[in-house]
Amino acid sequence: IITMPPPSSGGIALVQILNILEGYDLAALGHNSADYIQLVTEAMKAAYFDRATFLADDAFFNVPKAGLTAKDYAAVWRERIIRGRASELDRPGDPSDYGDGRHTTHLSVVDSQLNAVSITQTINGAFGSGLVVPGTGIMLNNEMDDFNIHGDSSGNEGNPTGTMNRVEPGKAPLSSMTPTIVLRDNRPFLVLGSPGGTRIITTVLQVFLNVVDFRMDIQAAVSAPRFHHQWRPDTLYVEDQIGPDTVAGLKGMGYDIARRSSWSNSQSIQYDPMEKLLFGGSDPRGIGRAVSPDGMDY
Ligand code: DON
Repeated sequence: IITMPPPSSGGIALVQILNILEGYDLAALGHNSADYIQLVTEAMKAAYFDRATFLADDAFFNVPKAGLTAKDYAAVWRERIIRGRASELDRPGDPSDYGDGRHTTHLSVVDSQLNAVSITQTINGAFGSGLVVPGTGIMLNNEMDDFNIHGDSSGNEGNPTGTMNRVEPGKAPLSSMTPTIVLRDNRPFLVLGSPGGTRIITTVLQVFLNVVDFRMDIQAAVSAPRFHHQWRPDTLYVEDQIGPDTVAGLKGMGYDIARRSSWSNSQSIQYDPMEKLLFGGSDPRGIGRAVSPDGMDY
């Protein structure tokens, strides 16, 4: 969609409303039925609340354009929309952590000679420490957050790590980054990775299992709904697309379940030695895409 940027709010609001609505089968509701009008109305209200909060001439005000138009940001708004009821919106959204990569980035590359690279780089939190080295444009990280600072955990999210991960001179904090190359017959078979803090490890694991055990192609493997458990908190996180029956079954087994719209952003590659073809799997949850060596963009 090519449309109008700030100082108009039109393009951003249009894309935001469409992003929210793409999570529903509108045609099935019937054109201009009450259910259809209710859903579209709630998406309009969301976008206009954000418009009143975040939109102005961006020569004067830093409009969070990428966040407002991000698919994963729209998914957060969808969670707040209750079907079949007029909602009272008590607060706007928070697009600050969506859109352009601001913390951790993963890229996977394979060239025509099957040389493979898997790179994850992190400045940890959104905008790292918030400091830029004057004159360089280099953003400094806040990686200290990955050290054990509470005696039994690291960082703001309280991720469990041991005291051997406490701050000491010259020591690197414990990372979860998992850039990975899987070889088969001595050739690259999978190139995997993702941002996502502690969820990186379980993201890479599930992409691997989806391809190897479930025979999915790499795009399906990357797109498939995920779950995550990291021992502490004793909570099983499941993405919303995992069905209610499965969630009910897991609750019955004694798991404390927390539903989340999405996490991570895997950018992965699979090599098919029979076809001699490379396939890219780019996560629909975040920005990124698969691009071929000849510059073609799929
Ligand atoms: O190295 C680590 O494990 C963390 N600094 C990664 C943080 C991260 O992935 C945030 N992005 N989603």
